[in-house]
Order: sequence, then C-alpha cells, then structure tokens
Amino acid sequence: MSRSRATEVSTVKKQAGPDLQGKIAGLAVIVMAAGLGKRMRSKQAKVLHPVAGQAMVLYSVGLGLRVAGDRVAVVVGHQADLVRRVIDRATSGMTGGSLVAIVEQREQLGTGHAVLQSRPAFAVGKRGAPSSYLILNGDTPLLREATVRELLRAHEAERATVTILTAVLEDASGYGRVVRAPSAERNVSCIVEDRDANAEEQAIREINVGTYVVDGEFLFSALEKLDPSNAQGEYYLTDIIHLAVEQGRRVAAVVLGNPDEGLGVNTRRQLAQAEQVVRHQIRDRWLDAGVTMIDPASTWIDAAVTIGKDTVLYPNVTLEGTTVIGEDCVLRSNTRLANCIVGNGVEILDHCVFADSHIEDDAQLGPFAHLRSGVVVRKKAKVGNFVEMKKTDLGEGSKANHLSYLGDAKIGKGVNVGAGTITCNYDGVRKFQTVIGDGVFLGSDTQLVAPVTVGAGAIIAAGTTVTKDVPADALAIARVPQVNRAGWAARRRALATQAQVGPVSSSMSTKSPVKSQSKKRR
Ligand code: UD1
Ligand code: MG
Repeated sequence: MSRSRATEVSTVKKQAGPDLQGKIAGLAVIVMAAGLGKRMRSKQAKVLHPVAGQAMVLYSVGLGLRVAGDRVAVVVGHQADLVRRVIDRATSGMTGGSLVAIVEQREQLGTGHAVLQSRPAFAVGKRGAPSSYLILNGDTPLLREATVRELLRAHEAERATVTILTAVLEDASGYGRVVRAPSAERNVSCIVEDRDANAEEQAIREINVGTYVVDGEFLFSALEKLDPSNAQGEYYLTDIIHLAVEQGRRVAAVVLGNPDEGLGVNTRRQLAQAEQVVRHQIRDRWLDAGVTMIDPASTWIDAAVTIGKDTVLYPNVTLEGTTVIGEDCVLRSNTRLANCIVGNGVEILDHCVFADSHIEDDAQLGPFAHLRSGVVVRKKAKVGNFVEMKKTDLGEGSKANHLSYLGDAKIGKGVNVGAGTITCNYDGVRKFQTVIGDGVFLGSDTQLVAPVTVGAGAIIAAGTTVTKDVPADALAIARVPQVNRAGWAARRRALATQAQVGPVSSSMSTKSPVKSQSKKRR
C-alpha cells in the first residue's frame, strides 16, 4: 500500500456557515474513554472527574467536534451509561454534537482494543471511510486546539502514516517513552510503555502524549495485528507505531513547546495539576476579554461560564456550571453562582449563593441572599440580607430587602415585601403557590399561607397571617387587637425591685405579684 496522501487540509467555505469553519474534510476523531482509571482510587470513572467544572472527557470531545465536525466517536466502557449521558447532555447544543457516536468497549483490554471498537461507527454512510483519524486520550484536558491543528498539518506535510505528539518532561515516569532510531534523522522507532521499559528506556525523557493522527487505510488493519504480550497483557494502541516502522512507513512526531499541555491525568495529583492550569487559562481568557478581577488567584470560573465586559469580580467569587454574567455587573466577595443567568448592570453584594436562577438587568442582591433554584429576579428588583427564594418570580422593581422566605411565589411589579415575610408554601405533603399582584404592600412579618392570592394594590398589615385571598386594593389585617394597660410597666418594675431588696417574706417569695401579673397577662 502506498503512503497515504488522502488527508486533505481544507477550511470549509464561509457560505457553509461559520460553525463549520475550521473542520477538516476526511478527518474523523476517536476519543478513548472506557478506562476506570485505577490510579485515581475513585468509585467514579476517571473521565467523568471534572476539571474546572467540566468532565474531563468533554475536553477531548469538544476538541474533536471543533476539528472534525460530526465525525466523532467516543469509546465508553466503565460506567458507560453515565459517560454517555454526560456526553449527550453536553454535546446536544453543539454543532454536530447530536451526531457523536458512542461505542462500547465491554472489556477494557487496552487502548488498541478500545480504538478497534470504534470501527463500525465509521463504516456507514455515503461519505466513505475517513482518510485519517485523530485519536485522543480522554484524560488529557490541557491539550489545545492549535496544537492539534499543528499535528494535523505536520502529518500532511510529512506524508506520514502515523504522527504522534510528544513532550519532553523532567519526570517521565508513568508515560510511554518515545524511542528514536540512532540515525542522524532520529526518527521515531517505537513507543515503550513505562511498565515494559528497561533501564535505558526508562531514562528517556521524551514521552507519548496520547494524541495521534493515523492514516485511514492503515489504522484498523494495524489494530488487528496487535499482540497483548506485554507487562499489562493489553492491546496497546502505541504498538501501531512499531508496526508502521516495520512496514517501512513514515512515522512523524511533533514535540510540544509547552510540555504542561501534554499532562495525562492518571492520579488525583495530576487532576489537581490540570485544574490549576485550566483555571489559570480561563481567568486569563476573561481578563483579556475585558473582565476585571480584583484577585484573579481567588476567582474560580468554570470552563463553560461566560462573562460580559466591564464586569468586576471581587476576591473569592465562584462562577460554576453554565453561568452567564452580563456586562457592567459587580460581584462582591465570597459569592457563588451555579448555572445562573445574570443580565447587565447587576450588583451582587458579599456572601450570596445562587443556583439555577435568572437575574435581569440592574437588579441588586445581597449581602447574604440565597436563590435556590427556579428564581427570576426581574429588572431593577432588590433582594436583600437573609432572603431565601425558591421557584419565585420577583417582579420588576419589587423589593424583598430583609429576612424573608419566598417559595413558589409569583410576585408582581413594584411590590414591597416587608421584613420577615414568609410564604408558607408547604403543608408537610404538598407545595402550593402564592400569587401577589402588582403594587402590593406586604407589611413586615407577613405570613402567606398558600395557596393564596393577593390582588393588585392591596395592603397587608404588618404581622398578618394571610389565609384567605385578598381582593385588589383591600387592606388585610389579621392579628390580635392591641390592649394598652396604663401604668402597668411601672408597677411591675416597682414590684420587681421590692422583691430583690426588701425583706423577703415567705408569702412574697412564693406568690410574687410580679409572677402572678405576668401569668395573668398570658
Ligand atoms: C497512555 C499511553 C502512553 C501515554 C499516556 C499519555 C497506551 C498503551 N499508553 O498510557 O503511551 O504516555 O497514555 O497520557 O496507550 N482506555 C480505554 N480502554 C482501555 C484502556 C484505556 O478506553 O481498555 C482509555 C482511558 O479511559 C483513557 C485513555 O484510554 O482515557 C488512556 O488510558 P490510560 O490507562 O490513562 O493510559 P496511560 O497508562 O496513561
Ligand atoms: Mg492516562
């Protein structure tokens, strides 16, 4: 078989849509994600461990989709259903994402065996077999797209059958070592796994990153020839390098400029290392995009978060999941947002915890506010200290400034929610809704026993327990009428003083007027 010339590096034309730009025709991607990852000492499959809030495997899958469009296969095995679900959820919104093929490797017999399982995913369709394959480990989250594109260019330029990515490390232990021929060209002759390496090979500091471009006609025929007679009894993908060399084919290598990028996560220490690097990259990206961070090192931003220009993040702000922050917002210290959408000009004061909620433009929240989930805070609304909300829509310009629980409530525009207002939404079995019309004034210490509706413009007197619907523009008051007893307090004080200093008769100490007075009051 002649050396493959089929790989064609081309950028899809603009009219095909911007999303398809940069996809390489004829290229398919295989992501290996079936391993358990014993060295992690975890109940969870290694590729599901998050790095900056995103499962490790999604870094490789995302990269694959960006370079190859919809020709991506992921090999799953350990916790296959979970891995499949994570990939489905994450890729459903991406271009080509719904077409990611998931193939199962039932027994984890090695990386070569894993790749072999993906063959059926590419054997269908009018498009014909891929002209080349990019193969990625599912545990290399630091790999950059630019590097992968460089690898693909080198593969093309060198007319290679296999092109591998390598890195030169201070400590190469654990990785496959790249053995080069003693000739002047120093061509790659094979990869030797750490556990199979002799002392001389162990001393090699150039390692295999686990990123390969392989000619389409060569890959599967080579995989069929793999032999598991090695220290781990596995079918090593890395053995295809030696096979190619034996067949007189060209094996090329690209050496990483920044070896950190080649980090393969096998242990918790490496996971922590990857986390640090990715966090740093994410912060730099948002700083470059016009976001101010008072203390970048203490600012935690997950991979999928987006932040608008001129937003200011104070120390110890954590933005998780799919959170989107608009422009000109201020987020003060010690605040955590998960999967929230925040408009423009929003101010969030210190010590807030928000999840799965939507905050519209110019709203003000905190300090010490808690939005649990399904909350909408409309434009210019205010949520103050010690206010907890759940599944509640707080209307435009409405205020809940102090000490409240608002759950399962629909609150209109311009409503004043007095301090200490509680929606009693739960009867011990079911949850009920509270509806409050526009312009309602809820006095302090109002309890709304749901289901209940307060009509627009109504006033609820402080301390009222609302158990019936209140018509629009009505006053609702439900509290014990007040009684004033003239001079009572002064008399009580006098009696108390007497009791403390006077000669205590047995009748006074046991039947104190103070005690009998206070009993009477109750
Ligand atoms: C692998 C390479 C090694 C390289 C290192 C880079 C092989 C034989 N060795 O070693 O040369 O230096 O990556 O990080 O390829 N997987 C499966 N099915 C399996 C086994 C593994 O899908 O049967 C997946 C894992 O989930 C993982 C990837 O393949 O995503 C790599 O497996 P891992 O066990 O981490 O290989 P390393 O020992 O790191
Ligand atoms: Mg690994």
